[in-house]
Amino acid sequence: MTSFRYATGQVAVHWLAAAAVLFLLLTGTLVLEDMPNTAPKVANLRIHMLVGALAGLLVVVRVLLRRSHPLPPPMPGERVVRWGHLGLNLLVLLMAFSGAMLALQSGLLDALWGNGTLPSDFRAFTPRRVHGLLAKLTMALVALHVLAALYHQFVLRDGLLGRMGLGRKGGS
Ligand code: HEM
Repeated sequence: MTSFRYATGQVAVHWLAAAAVLFLLLTGTLVLEDMPNTAPKVANLRIHMLVGALAGLLVVVRVLLRRSHPLPPPMPGERVVRWGHLGLNLLVLLMAFSGAMLALQSGLLDALWGNGTLPSDFRAFTPRRVHGLLAKLTMALVALHVLAALYHQFVLRDGLLGRMGLGRKGGS
């Protein structure tokens, strides 16, 4: 085991992105999806859009930081891990992109910040169906990511979470 630890900026961006994505997946599914498209939904959609755009931006920042900082030492199953992380980044970017496409097609920007009205149902738009499907895939991959981290921490006991600033340093 080495004592590799990501740079403070990388750790901060990772946990901020994790909080944003978790918030979006939970509130999107449990709140937005079941809410009728009437006035009270506007404030929720504003927050969803802003946090969604932030989540997309944080992926770009993460990739840039990764390129400008030392890489962690490889671990067993490195290729699978890399594909998993690539998949997570790609899915979050695609979620933000499909959300933006939906906003453009449905006149959402005008409804939230201008004097337009919300469409009667977002499901009439193709990007909304893509957004919903990608959300399920993102949830599955986030669940695998969390389970893998917990497996390392509590079964293999290699201190992997220390790399991301939790617990002792470690994770070869
Ligand atoms: C990483 C970014 C994002 C995540 C993880 C996310 C997540 C979600 C989830 C889970 C849902 C519910 C879908 C379902 O269960 O079928 C949803 C709905 C929605 N999202 Fe996002 N979203 C993101 C970004 C965005 C952005 C950037 C926008 C707009 C610019 C947006 C606009 C919407 C809209 C309009 C709905 C539909 C609400 C409804 O059907 O009533 N999302 N989002």
